[in-house]
Amino acid sequence: MTEPEPWWTGAVVYQVYPRSFADGNGDGVGDLAGLRKHLDHIADLGVDVIWLSPVYRSPQADNGYDISDHEDIDPLFGTIDEFDALLVEVHRRGMRLVMDLVVNHSSDQHPWFRAARRSRTCPKHDWYIWRDPVDGHEPNDWRAAFDGPAWSWDPGTGQYYLHMFTPQQPDLNWENPDMREAVYEMMNRWLDRGVDGFRMDVINHIAKDDDALSGDSDAYVMQPRIHEHLQEMHERVFAGRDALLTVGEMPGVTVEDAALFTDPERHELDMVFQFEHVGLDHAPASKFTRQETDLPALKASLARWQTGLEARGWNSLYLSNHDQPRPVSRFGAAARSAADGPGSGTDPFAFRYESATLLATVLHLHRGTPYVYQGDEIGMVDAGFTAIEQYRDVESLNWFRGAVGRGMPTASALEALAFRSRDNARTPIPWDDSEPAGGFSTAQPWIGMGQGWPRITVAADRAAGDRSVYEHHRRLIDLRHRSRTVRLGTFALLEPEHPALWAFTRSLPAASARDEDDPPLVVVANLSASELVLPAGVAGRAGDLVLGNLGEPDSAGRLRPWEARVHECR
Ligand code: GLC
Repeated sequence: MTEPEPWWTGAVVYQVYPRSFADGNGDGVGDLAGLRKHLDHIADLGVDVIWLSPVYRSPQADNGYDISDHEDIDPLFGTIDEFDALLVEVHRRGMRLVMDLVVNHSSDQHPWFRAARRSRTCPKHDWYIWRDPVDGHEPNDWRAAFDGPAWSWDPGTGQYYLHMFTPQQPDLNWENPDMREAVYEMMNRWLDRGVDGFRMDVINHIAKDDDALSGDSDAYVMQPRIHEHLQEMHERVFAGRDALLTVGEMPGVTVEDAALFTDPERHELDMVFQFEHVGLDHAPASKFTRQETDLPALKASLARWQTGLEARGWNSLYLSNHDQPRPVSRFGAAARSAADGPGSGTDPFAFRYESATLLATVLHLHRGTPYVYQGDEIGMVDAGFTAIEQYRDVESLNWFRGAVGRGMPTASALEALAFRSRDNARTPIPWDDSEPAGGFSTAQPWIGMGQGWPRITVAADRAAGDRSVYEHHRRLIDLRHRSRTVRLGTFALLEPEHPALWAFTRSLPAASARDEDDPPLVVVANLSASELVLPAGVAGRAGDLVLGNLGEPDSAGRLRPWEARVHECR
């Protein structure tokens, strides 16, 4: 990496999923007014950047990831004036704001798609991906991510259009230069308005393979032209602008691809979201089929990315977001007891404070830019829904209907949703224990509060002193800001095969360590409910305590259940 290193190597990002953050107008749905009211909750954590999930005009077929006007705010969330006011408030607190950019597809209600379907000869027709029927059917058997065929019939034009998500989300045609130009202009207008970058939704899907589109190959994304598109976008939008952050969501991306996407010399993106570590606990064919995984596999996966992007490129670090279950429930003590099988007396709150803070410690001490998803900073747990009527997510509802239709017992399908549904991360932020919705709203919220409420609330967590998950996050973020080792140090995994110990070192090359403020660090974490004796080779390295989730160690050579500590290396 060329010096000086970019600002975001020392930054932490906080993701806001607006409809679940805070409701300012009493309609049961979170909005910009609610977010503005609670900005200090985010600022006090010490984060540098807010990533705001979509607030654009949208019919909400996929909670805003179906945009019908990229340049206006949906009335559900507020107005463009409220957005501008929010941006001022964010900047006033010394934070930056990154918008979600959804340009693999639009809403079917977008004026572009309305024009495109008017006739085959309309210039905008080619802004989307159309195919004639083959023998009266879809051109191939591609399936959409949220179930059903990826092609929908349009009677007006007598053609099928492609949608990799719902039929209400037609895919844009990135081969059309006018469409690309319109996207770049729109992006530039947001940057001119003052926003500080973009999180780019499924951006590796924009380059489709023309042959595959007409055949049955499923190698339709991540085609070589993806790099051309991103380089062009960089040139037309990002070049010459200071202090932006660009992060591409890239399902299926490999570490080799990521090194290309994030190599600063190639002028594409700052970092990508990869999916390898969040794919380990389910079968490759379906995220709803649970697959047992162990700690060595998870450690190895993250370590591979650390090494793979060490010389060139940059990692983004995340355990959750609005599409993933809660880390405490997925990787914490509750998941460990769940692995013993259904009915094993699983307690969703087992070692909750310890699990939340351990997982945060491990994540934030990796090399890369950490992302905190709203609610993880207070240790929220999965929704715990037990009836299909509680779910709202289009993916969950479609999958459930399909699975039960194919003969899966309802109870098994509900069990899969409880483990995997995106709604696990979408329950409202429980600000306090007041009725009816924990200070999130004065009305019934659009989705239930989840099993964590009223036990878990922001108010209770922030009052919990040395057992506050929020306070622990604040310390981790502060450590990153202070420590060059945390920002840039080389990562080395210790004891890779140990089934319960997650241990690694971070160290700057001797020549670049400027002073004693940057000593090498060793991180040790016990992912088990039993005491763990540190192997001698690890214990021998642990010097002064920098930070721990349980305070001062009981014993230097042992870790208590779910204890995590950061030490200076001896
Ligand atoms: C991304 C988003 C997800 C959305 C999908 C389609 O994966 O994170 O929420 O449903 O893209 O836009």
